[in-house]
Amino acid sequence: MVTVTAAPPAHAWTADPYAVALRAGRGPLYLLRADGRRLPLDVERWCAGPDVADLSVLGHCRGGVLDIGCGPGRMVAALARADHPALGIDTAPAAVARTRDSGGAALLASVFQRLPAEGRWGSALLMDGNLGIGGDPAALLRRVAGLLAPGGLLLAETAATEVDERFEARLDAGSGVAGPAFAWARLGPGALRGLARRGGWSPVAQWTVADRAFTALRHREP
Ligand SMILES: C[S@@+](CC[C@H](N)C(=O)[O-])C[C@H]1O[C@@H](n2cnc3c(N)ncnc32)[C@H](O)[C@@H]1O
Repeated sequence: MVTVTAAPPAHAWTADPYAVALRAGRGPLYLLRADGRRLPLDVERWCAGPDVADLSVLGHCRGGVLDIGCGPGRMVAALARADHPALGIDTAPAAVARTRDSGGAALLASVFQRLPAEGRWGSALLMDGNLGIGGDPAALLRRVAGLLAPGGLLLAETAATEVDERFEARLDAGSGVAGPAFAWARLGPGALRGLARRGGWSPVAQWTVADRAFTALRHREP
């Protein structure tokens, strides 16, 4: 059975600071938290080709790959160059445009909307902190379980440190003009493993490359 979770607002990442940064291919861009703390976003790396850490994730991909929150699409474009079937989805038109320009297939859509090939993807990616999408990682994991084929793999990038946070954030280019508030989350490897086990997932691999941490998870059948 396919579960479609109630969609959180998808407009947050369509705000100007993100579109401007993606068009320019560089920051500065931050997640500005309600408590005033700023988390830098690595727009330059997202807009470059896959680095050694990204390549380690690409090496785990099996079957058709759904890159959830693909941003400017470096992973989808690399898979396309290797003739590996892949689709990026993103709610930001600038991200979808950049992904397509770099040769990847991309759809302007939220992960919480109905999507092509639900229940048939071999792998799903949640890169660069995308476990935070929607601010409720348990709901996101449930949604991803419904997108994957039986035995499919979720390849998720966690925070490198042990954090487990839910918070409101806005996108901020450092200019004092921030976009609308949206819910986000940050999970370290231990927090993801705990949440995943409770949601019926089994961790199958965990690795760190260049200070970036990844976990591969497989869902234990419906
Ligand atoms: C932290 S950025 C990650 C960037 C990306 N992985 C990359 O390689 O550039 C989060 C991305 O998720 C997208 N996003 C946010 N909410 C989403 C949703 N509900 N469904 C799909 N994408 C979403 C944003 O537009 C943004 O591109």
